[in-house]
Amino acid sequence: MKLNNIRLGDCIENLKKLPSESVDLVFADPPYFLQLRNALYRPNQTQVDGVDDEWDQFENYQVYDKFTEEWLIECYRVLKKDGAIWVIGTYHNIFRVGTVMQNIGFWLLNDIIWIKNNPMPNFKGTRFNNAHETLIWATKSAKSNYTFHYQAMKAYNDGLQMRSDWEMPICKGKERIKINGQKAHSTQKPEELLYRILLATSNVGDLILDPFFGSGTTGAVAKKLQRNYIGLEREPFYIEVATQRIAAVEPLPLDLLDYKIEKKKPKVPFGCLIEKNYVQVGETLYSKNQQHQAVVAADASLVAGKNNETVGSIHKVSATLMSKENNNGWTFWYVFRQNEWVSIDTLREDYAKKYL
Ligand SMILES: C[S@@+](CC[C@H](N)C(=O)[O-])C[C@H]1O[C@@H](n2cnc3c(N)ncnc32)[C@H](O)[C@@H]1O
Repeated sequence: MKLNNIRLGDCIENLKKLPSESVDLVFADPPYFLQLRNALYRPNQTQVDGVDDEWDQFENYQVYDKFTEEWLIECYRVLKKDGAIWVIGTYHNIFRVGTVMQNIGFWLLNDIIWIKNNPMPNFKGTRFNNAHETLIWATKSAKSNYTFHYQAMKAYNDGLQMRSDWEMPICKGKERIKINGQKAHSTQKPEELLYRILLATSNVGDLILDPFFGSGTTGAVAKKLQRNYIGLEREPFYIEVATQRIAAVEPLPLDLLDYKIEKKKPKVPFGCLIEKNYVQVGETLYSKNQQHQAVVAADASLVAGKNNETVGSIHKVSATLMSKENNNGWTFWYVFRQNEWVSIDTLREDYAKKYL
C-alpha cells in the first residue's frame, strides 16, 4: 500500500479500496451538518465567515446518519485489531456520531472537550457562546491493546495526569492558510490539537488515516512526528493546499521522538536472581511494612502461610497475601542488605545492568 499520499474522491469509496486491518489510527473531522439558515452579521454589519460549504450540506438527519454509518463501518474494517479512532464534532453532530459508533461496536475510551480560548462570539446574544468542540476517542473493542503514552502525557502536563479538557486556541495567525487574503479552508484545525493526539495515541512509523483531510492538518503533524499518513478528500483545491503545506514540513529527528519516559523495565525472570546469587534459596522475602513474608524455594517459587499453604510466583503469592487478583511482586518484596531494606526490583535493575 502506498503511504503518505492524498486520495481524491468520496471517502467511502476510497475507504473501500484500503485493506482490512491496515491502519493504526484514524483521525476524522467529518462534516458537521451545521444547517446555518441565514447569513450571520456582526454588530458592525460585517458578515461572519460561517461554514456554509457544499460539503457540509445534507438533506436531513437520516441522510447524514446513513453517511456517518457508512464511513464509520469502513473505518472499523480498516483499523488494526489494537487500533483506535478519534472523531471530532460539535453539538450539531457529535451525539449522532457517538450513537452510530457505539452501534457499530466501537468501544469509547474518553471524550475530550477542546475548550477554545478564543472562540467566535455569539453575535446575536441569543445563546451561550459556543466555546468548545468534542472529540470521541474509541477502540475496536473493550479488549483492544491500544496505544496510550500515559507517562509522556503526564510529563507534557507538568507531572500531573493529563485531563480530558484541553484548552487551545482555534487556528489563527501565521498557521491559518490564506489564499488572496481568504481562508483556504473554513474549518482548518489547529496543529496543536493533532500534535497532542498523535503524540499520545500513536507511535513513530504508524499509519494515520484521515478520511476528511481538508487542508491537511493531520498529514502535516504526522510528517513532523515521523508517522505515515493517508488522506482522503473530495475537493481537488484542498488537496492542492494540503500537498503544498505538507511539502514544507520538516520531520523532527527520530531520537527526539523516542518515548524515553515510557521505557519498559527489562524482562528478568525471578529465577535469574537466584542463579546469580542476588537472592538465596531458603531466604525470606518481606513486604515493605514487613507484615507479610515468604520463603524462596529452589524452583524460584515462593512459599508462605503458617502451613506453607500459599505457593506460587512472586506475583501470585503477593496477590494472595493482599487478597487481590493480581499484584506486582517485583515492587512488593524486599530483602535486607547491608543494614537496609532493598526491593527485589532494585536487584532486578542491578542484574539487568550487569548481564543484559
Ligand atoms: C471539517 S473539514 C476537515 C478539515 C481538516 N481537519 C483541516 O484541518 O483542514 C471536512 C473535509 O471533508 C471533506 N469531505 C466532506 N465530505 C467528504 C466525502 N464524502 N469524501 C471525502 N471528503 C469529504 C470536505 O471537503 C472538507 O475538506
